[in-house]
Amino acid sequence: MTADALSHGAGRGTATDVDSLPEDSPFGADTVATAREIIARYPQSRSALLPLLHLVQSVQGYVSQHGIAFCANQLELSTAEVSAVATFYTMYKRKPCGEHLVSVCTNTLCAALGGDAIYDKLRTHLGSEDKPLGHEETSGTPGEQGSITLEHAECLAACDFAPVLQVNYEYYDNQTTESAVDLVDALRRGEKPAPTRGAPLTDFRGVEYQLAAGFDTAAEAVGGPSASAATLRGAQLANERGWTAPAMPDNVDLPPAPEKK
Ligand code: FES
Repeated sequence: MTADALSHGAGRGTATDVDSLPEDSPFGADTVATAREIIARYPQSRSALLPLLHLVQSVQGYVSQHGIAFCANQLELSTAEVSAVATFYTMYKRKPCGEHLVSVCTNTLCAALGGDAIYDKLRTHLGSEDKPLGHEETSGTPGEQGSITLEHAECLAACDFAPVLQVNYEYYDNQTTESAVDLVDALRRGEKPAPTRGAPLTDFRGVEYQLAAGFDTAAEAVGGPSASAATLRGAQLANERGWTAPAMPDNVDLPPAPEKK
């Protein structure tokens, strides 16, 4: 497929089997089979776009023009429609990612408690004093062992453990500049330190596959500890003191749910 064909997808794609893929496609029969399996989960094929974008990212480490064309073809959408979605969400990367994606929360609470300092420290530690790593830049060769893409992120929904960072979306709570440096050094050595909560650490592409289609691995992926004492403290206090939410009044007329078309 030519660059022109990849980038100007005004027409809708229709190549839904492996024989229809362009010769230089990075996606093979296994990716097509997984895509068909994902699409079959939804009443309307276009609803499978988000997992399909994760699927192409699991192959290439980012959403390339090939990935956009693949999704468009599988879902019979235009590449413009796929691009509009892929460029809206920050989890879809425009440049190849490292073996690991390190996301440092620099939103208000984490920033005030050390998140900004952690991010600044990792920028120079993974880059250099003269050339600190920028947002979504990679230390090492993307995809090779020990390569790390660094990004700053907005609230990672773990403010009770601030400052936090994530590696491939797994949580490392209550971080300091020292613990963050130790963590990325371990990743560069090929180690996979256990996250504070959640699933065992894999790598960016592995997690992308889980997000897309982790049919068999989902139970293992979510089997780790998730909630913690700090998160559950409010519910525990309410339980101890017999507090409950006010009951819903009887005979409340709820608006009808819109019919699905
Ligand atoms: S501000 Fe960092 S997790 Fe909410």
